[in-house]
Amino acid sequence: MNFFIETIGCQMNVNDSEKIALFLLEHGCCSVDNIEQADIVILNTCSVRFSAEHKAYSFLGRVKEYKQQNPDMIVAVVGCMAQYAYKEIKQRFDFVNFVLGAKHIDEFSKYISKYIDISSSSDITIQNKENQFFKFVTIMRGCQNFCSYCIVPYVRGPEISLDFEDIINEINNLVQNGVKEVTLLGQNVNSYKNKEVNFTNLLQKISAETDIENIRFMTNHPKDLSDDLIDEISNNSKICKHIHLPLQSGSDNILKNMNRKYTYDHYRNLVDKIRNKIPDINITTDIIVGFPGETDNDFDKTFQAIKQIKFGGIFGFKYSPRPKTLAYKLQDDVSETVKKQRLAILLEESNKISKQLNGNYIGKTADILVENFSNDTADGRNSQNIKIFFKYSKNIVGQKVKVKITKALANSMTGEIIV
Ligand code: SAH
Ligand code: SF4
Ligand code: F3S
Repeated sequence: MNFFIETIGCQMNVNDSEKIALFLLEHGCCSVDNIEQADIVILNTCSVRFSAEHKAYSFLGRVKEYKQQNPDMIVAVVGCMAQYAYKEIKQRFDFVNFVLGAKHIDEFSKYISKYIDISSSSDITIQNKENQFFKFVTIMRGCQNFCSYCIVPYVRGPEISLDFEDIINEINNLVQNGVKEVTLLGQNVNSYKNKEVNFTNLLQKISAETDIENIRFMTNHPKDLSDDLIDEISNNSKICKHIHLPLQSGSDNILKNMNRKYTYDHYRNLVDKIRNKIPDINITTDIIVGFPGETDNDFDKTFQAIKQIKFGGIFGFKYSPRPKTLAYKLQDDVSETVKKQRLAILLEESNKISKQLNGNYIGKTADILVENFSNDTADGRNSQNIKIFFKYSKNIVGQKVKVKITKALANSMTGEIIV
């Protein structure tokens, strides 16, 4: 049987989709690139913003037509939106065979086995050839920070740190299968804690007890990023020099109403401390514009913060009211036009800054693990997580190369291979 998976949302979902794909491959199914050829269609959903839900609904609208042509097609909706909009999905799309929320994603095999025969199994470990050198490893599930705008704690449940021994075993397994880089995933990796092993200890164990070459991780919460962790990133050559540290707003008033549990000054000091100890670190962030009650003055504080801190890159979002959250009770009083304007202003400034910062790399060399190759162009990321493109005549995905940076853009750089 052929399957097609559509994934919306963050790396957690990408990781869950990979696990589902692996399960199906192990049980004799084949992955296909388009819905027409699929006997099984899986939609992995996100509900972090309205736009993500909208994507899911329009995808299901399209699937409906395929299902009319092929009534035997099995359609499953899984993930975060499936967790809380279960009834609505069932009602609006009655052709969907099953809906399985993010909290129960581990039960996927039980649900799909009602529709396909999973008794046969083949010995596939890592089929996804393109990505066999880079893998996501989930180290934590859920979140219990309850930022007032965010639906994640409601759809993913409370924070659970996975067993550190299981994580080490998983990484050892991946290394045996050729994986060279892992990205540790959690909504809040710096609050990881399992049997007295905290996130710093986990990083130490991974470097000591596995042969993985590169370690990346995301996301971090500014309220509890420890000095030990900063030291470990600084001293451990396997850990890439990139920290994604969402600020969300530069206004203390808004931060308070967002329930972020830190002030701008705290954040600012944290950034200074990180940069003091790790001079070559790249710090990136998330910003929400148009949170309820955000005045021009509040927004200006965010704008000034971007100018002061000089992030390597920002992900900017327009506030989107989410059912169940605390902020949902507040009036969404910043107009769509103002949200758009504020976002455009931030992104323009931020692009200018990151282009400038990337300019500092020109003439320097970077060690990169090659990630993609097509039409004589290869790319990979440097330790700071900045994408670098360079010309090469053959596919060297998975190899470590040295590249001399020749040109810097806001979100990527180009260079020439040296070795
Ligand atoms: N756990 C991560 C974030 C996960 S969601 C963290 O706290 O860093 C990714 C980003 O989406 C958030 O950082 C936030 O900037 C944005 N976001 C979350 N809820 C949102 C909402 N209701 N409207 C707009 N952006 C939102
Ligand atoms: Fe959402 Fe806040 Fe948890 Fe991040 S830390 S997932 S923004 S509640
Ligand atoms: Fe991720 Fe979206 Fe769920 S951001 S955790 S897939 S709500």
